[in-house]
Amino acid sequence: MDSYELNKIAAAVIGAMLVTMVISILGGALVSPRRLAEPAYQIAAAPAAPAAQAAAPAQLDPIGPLLAAANAEAGAGLSRQCASCHTFNQGGRNGVGPNLYGVVGGPRAHAEGFNYSNAMKEAAQRPGDEGKWNYEALNRYLANPQAEVRGTRMAFAGLRRAEDRANLIAWLRTQSANPPPLP
Ligand code: HEC
Repeated sequence: MDSYELNKIAAAVIGAMLVTMVISILGGALVSPRRLAEPAYQIAAAPAAPAAQAAAPAQLDPIGPLLAAANAEAGAGLSRQCASCHTFNQGGRNGVGPNLYGVVGGPRAHAEGFNYSNAMKEAAQRPGDEGKWNYEALNRYLANPQAEVRGTRMAFAGLRRAEDRANLIAWLRTQSANPPPLP
């Protein structure tokens, strides 16, 4: 190989390097990465404490004092929100949800023949009065079903206003043969 050949090879190599460099510079200029001011995906690095709080049932004031002054007629009106899933009369049929006659003060998962979620069946095993629908348990369930019985199949967002819950529970009492005395 003479030096002329070598020169040709060197020229070819250098030429190729030049072309690559130009392409890379041009490419960089054309598609320069734009830095976002904020990440497009916010990765929620929730600290442990608030997450645990969200899982715990919200702290509600006792419903007893409101029940004493509750308006069962207003509660009857509110019960229409439940009627797509529940009947309340004695011997009424189970629908999407169980018949609710006698639920106040009764055991959780009280309706015969209704296919309750495992979550509700487990809640029925809670010790003592907590296995029943006492007034405070009903209040918590109606405020936020998932907080009171995590995994319940009752797809209901909850009644936010304590007065509404008191009125509704006062009316539910009337749909029962022997409801427990008001607290
Ligand atoms: C979208 C349908 C739906 C609506 C609306 C609904 N519920 Fe329910 N409810 C259910 C289902 C389903 C269950 C059974 C839950 C389970 O097994 O986890 C249930 C269970 C209950 C229970 C427990 C019954 C027991 O035997 O332990 C109560 C009390 C109750 N609902 C009250 C209400 C009230 C009061 C309302 C209206 C404010 C309401 N629900 C609205 C579907 C509904």
